[in-house]
Amino acid sequence: MPKVLVSDKLSPTAVKIFSDRGIDVDVKTGLKPDELMAIIGDYDGLAVRSETKVTAAVLEKATNLKVVGRAGIGVDNIDIPAATQRGVVVMNTPYGNAITTAEHTIAMMFSLARQIPLANASTHAGKWEKNRFMGVELFNKVLGLIGCGNIGSIVAERAVALRMRVIAFDPYLSPERALDLGVEKVELDDLIARADFITLHTPLTEKTRGILNADAIARMKKGVRLINCARGGLIDEAALKAALESGHVAGAALDVFTAEPAKENILFGMDNVVCTPHLGASTSEAQENVALQVADQISDYLLTGA
Ligand code: MLT
Repeated sequence: MPKVLVSDKLSPTAVKIFSDRGIDVDVKTGLKPDELMAIIGDYDGLAVRSETKVTAAVLEKATNLKVVGRAGIGVDNIDIPAATQRGVVVMNTPYGNAITTAEHTIAMMFSLARQIPLANASTHAGKWEKNRFMGVELFNKVLGLIGCGNIGSIVAERAVALRMRVIAFDPYLSPERALDLGVEKVELDDLIARADFITLHTPLTEKTRGILNADAIARMKKGVRLINCARGGLIDEAALKAALESGHVAGAALDVFTAEPAKENILFGMDNVVCTPHLGASTSEAQENVALQVADQISDYLLTGA
């Protein structure tokens, strides 16, 4: 009987699926790296979210491991080259939390446009600052999507319904799909120059790291607003801070940060920055979906090799 370790908090649905399919499953969360290394040799499969760091050192001890499944999209916490070298398959669940993350993006965009977090804090403090919080409409604004895949395309559909004018930079977006979505496919420079709001929906790779750096930010429209629910390293945080201070960028809504968990960040405390602690995928529906999908995928692989 194959053995699977669940080392991050997953919905109990995942454990039930493993057991129902005849897989021996242990749930041990919050393990320190040396604790994980001490036991990983016993397992054929490992199911994680983002807390467990599947490093080369962990993989070296994982002498029976055949598969690592990430309940979520990003596999940044898994050393893919080291896994590949050892013949360990790495899988993710690219669809399970896409709607949830797209909805968070839209929520962040509204929060930014109407300064809802700041107005909320002020109203709770008894200030009634009605004149302080002048917002902007989303209607008719140009929304620039950097990345129009699983999540970006759902954001596009929602934004089109809000009557925004949606433009997208994505080398993998076909003209037919763009037409279907009602978005205009553009080059990055064009997007940067035209957008009133820019949202990122791309993985963090060597090509995309700092895609919104000081140079890109300088070429944006004055008063642009940025939303990032993808990965922290996509925006140069120091350049963003300078642009927020100068007023060139009117605001930023950030769910992700260069270093996480982000207990400190140079952008914290700024009035024109809305922050959440990487909540993009945090709904009960999405967590159920990704747990179920990762458990099925790992089981399929271990039981049938498919
Ligand atoms: C993901 O990669 O699935 C999301 O960023 C959510 C997460 O990491 O929890």
